[in-house]
Amino acid sequence: MDGRVNVARPPEVWLGVSTPEASRDDDHLAVETSTARILALPDGSVRLSHQCPTCGATDHGRPELRSTHAGPGPGALPLTVSLSRTDGGSFWAVASGADALGIDLESTTAVARAPIDSVAFTADELADLERGAAARDVDHLELRTAAWTIKEALLKAAGTGLRADPRALRLTWAPRSAPPPVPRPGVDTLDPPWEPFPAFHLEAVPPGSAIDPSRTHLRAFTRHTPHGTLVAAVAVVTDLAPRLHR
Ligand SMILES: CC(C)(COP(=O)(O)OP(=O)(O)OC[C@H]1O[C@@H](n2cnc3c(N)ncnc32)[C@H](O)[C@@H]1OP(=O)(O)O)[C@@H](O)C(=O)NCCC(=O)NCCS
Repeated sequence: MDGRVNVARPPEVWLGVSTPEASRDDDHLAVETSTARILALPDGSVRLSHQCPTCGATDHGRPELRSTHAGPGPGALPLTVSLSRTDGGSFWAVASGADALGIDLESTTAVARAPIDSVAFTADELADLERGAAARDVDHLELRTAAWTIKEALLKAAGTGLRADPRALRLTWAPRSAPPPVPRPGVDTLDPPWEPFPAFHLEAVPPGSAIDPSRTHLRAFTRHTPHGTLVAAVAVVTDLAPRLHR
């Protein structure tokens, strides 16, 4: 014993959103620049790279952050990163202290266009979502979009993407008695006009999944736009509840 107290710190997650005009390159640059600022490294010293777990290509697949700066030493940074884009904009997150991170951004208009129900949900889950939407007076399409967005975030955190069957991720909708999440200013929130969306819980994962439901923290936010509702979802695998920053 050396008298030092080892206090476990919650993971920190930094979130960013971009406008619909932002290109994929713009998003990558925003992630690199923001990460350099978070770590107090010079601009241009953080690079986002990819490695496809299926084919090994480096132009797509799971993202990671690397440093070219001598300070922390060139190589992979101890951060996790995730990105997503849809019709209404793009969304990214960088986390320190998390075992895994996945995010997703989806619009109700995109989900209404795509016949995802049978791919995304089991019949039981669809019935649950329908009952939940009616009981909570939530729009059914918005609730399905949120559930799908949470599943995609989880599949990115697992690193498999849609190579794993989304129906094997079993979500439950927070009970009606659960209080709505109370965002703390500057923490755990995306600024207005984003609103926290009532929580989902992860009950089950596919066999062999890297995700442990008891250590998985899920958050969702919605934003109403003239083109439909956007839902942003964050999945963080960690012991302590993460602190979210904008
Ligand atoms: C991950 C996946 C669900 C994203 O789908 P999407 O809804 O079309 O796209 P989104 O905009 O939400 O997300 C795109 C981001 O997902 C991330 N991503 C891609 N593959 C990923 C993986 N295996 N794990 C985690 N994140 C991944 C990337 O960061 C990508 O953005 P970027 O290329 O600009 O960095 C989808 O690409 C997928 O299922 N991939 C796995 C299938 C596969 O292995 N394909 C490759 C065959 S060679």
